Amino acid sequence: MSTSIDKFIVEIDKAVRAVAGVSEAARPMPRSAEEPALGETERRHAAALMRVNHCGEVCAQALYQGQALASSGRIRDALARAAREEGDHLAWSAQRIRELGGRTSALNPLWYAGSLALGYAAGKLGDAWNLGFLAETEKQVEQHLQGHLDRLSPSDATTRAVIETMQREEAGHARTAEALGARELPAPAKCAMRALARVMTTISYRL
Ligand SMILES: [Fe+2]
Ligand SMILES: [Fe+2]
Repeated sequence: MSTSIDKFIVEIDKAVRAVAGVSEAARPMPRSAEEPALGETERRHAAALMRVNHCGEVCAQALYQGQALASSGRIRDALARAAREEGDHLAWSAQRIRELGGRTSALNPLWYAGSLALGYAAGKLGDAWNLGFLAETEKQVEQHLQGHLDRLSPSDATTRAVIETMQREEAGHARTAEALGARELPAPAKCAMRALARVMTTISYRL
């Protein structure tokens, strides 16, 4: 009894930290040898892009938590490393936003709750669909991060280093999910996920 209460408290603690942007990374944030000198417009733009990425990482926390609560122990254990890396992404995005003088999204609790529900629902559909949902999410995030690299100032080497590391690891998460037996999602589901992500990224760039 006490262990399930303990687990519940740990999950609540993770949720609060994710939403508040106060989680700690296990690895130091990637950065360039010298801090890039940025103009005001570049800095604001980078902070807003990192706010979007932080919001995405809040959602990733919720997705991984949701699927961990709903899916089999085998999947949960196999995805533990990916979940740990997501924890670093979350903390790095928040750290970079602070360094750029920006702020995290005011709507994070909302995105968190929605993603937790989605992750839980995917977990309940069984391992193959759950992994398929995860793999597709990671692939879309990887493409989305490429879009940010294209739009980010070439001189902002530190923000680029953070995003490039995250992008590489998201691709690894997709491969992990595929190796575990992910089923490819139908095209309409992929489209719906893109549409949902577009709403989230557009709003969190501003709010
Ligand atoms: Fe991530
Ligand atoms: Fe990921």
